[in-house]
Amino acid sequence: MLEHICGEGATEIFRDTETGVFERHFEADSGKGGAPVKIVQITDVHFNLCDEADEGDEELMHTKQCRHWNADGASAVSAQRAMAAAKGADQIIVTGDTLDYLSHGARVMTEKYIWGADPDALICIGGHDYTKEMQTGVKDYLPAEERLALVQSFWRHDIHYVSRTLGDKVTVVCMNDNGRYPDCAVEPFLRDLADARANKRIVLIFQHEPICTYNPADTAVDAIRVYDPKVHDFWHDKGCPELEWDDATNTVMHAIRANPDVIRGVFCGHSHSAFYAEILCEDGSVIPQHVLEGNCYDRHAGHLMRITVK
Ligand SMILES: [Fe+2]
Repeated sequence: MLEHICGEGATEIFRDTETGVFERHFEADSGKGGAPVKIVQITDVHFNLCDEADEGDEELMHTKQCRHWNADGASAVSAQRAMAAAKGADQIIVTGDTLDYLSHGARVMTEKYIWGADPDALICIGGHDYTKEMQTGVKDYLPAEERLALVQSFWRHDIHYVSRTLGDKVTVVCMNDNGRYPDCAVEPFLRDLADARANKRIVLIFQHEPICTYNPADTAVDAIRVYDPKVHDFWHDKGCPELEWDDATNTVMHAIRANPDVIRGVFCGHSHSAFYAEILCEDGSVIPQHVLEGNCYDRHAGHLMRITVK
């Protein structure tokens, strides 16, 4: 049974009285009828573990000394709870910060608790997934390109862009959006959008970080439920017109805001608290943006977003 915790409509949060897992709900209508497609999003799992294979790595040993949140693999509990609650979904998507930092121990936990539970799970990358440094005050030894290549060497799909069409109703898109959208995401994203439009499918975007809502009033949006920040600045997020962006980010942001009839939702994490905001599009309509709370809060209860596409 689901217990109402707070909010209403887009901001409503429930808790399963049997499993203790928190959940939010989102529904979209593709207009195609037939059996609904069920998608579950989980975010910010933060596996923090160094194992024997990490012991020779001076940088990781320094992080291990400094980083105590979820240490010794504590997030295994919440990951197991969320993945068990997500079982039966047509698609499970984890929106970044699965690894707390790039250790062998965290990599093994990702294999065991996420892909071990669902080999088809899609996992977007967040900033934590490709850093070895956490709270040490020292910069990463390796440049970002080398760390990203390391992540790609064991990731089960492309770390920058992957999409999947489910039930000929919805195309889910998972993009690396850490700081900016990568150049290599532009062409497949535009192609997927055109293909979805031509075939009357909707598109749902999954990524780690929230994007600018194009509403200057959104500099301090209140959290639905507070776990870390109480407010979030959705105006100065990626794509904010007051700031300079690269061509790839400008192109992707324009494509999102020009296609609200196809793109029905953006789902992300990163903030760790629960938020809801609306992205103002070029025709004046809005795309809902759901920021899901981190999975490990409430004593490793597990937190998920259940998405139904009719
Ligand atoms: Fe995170």
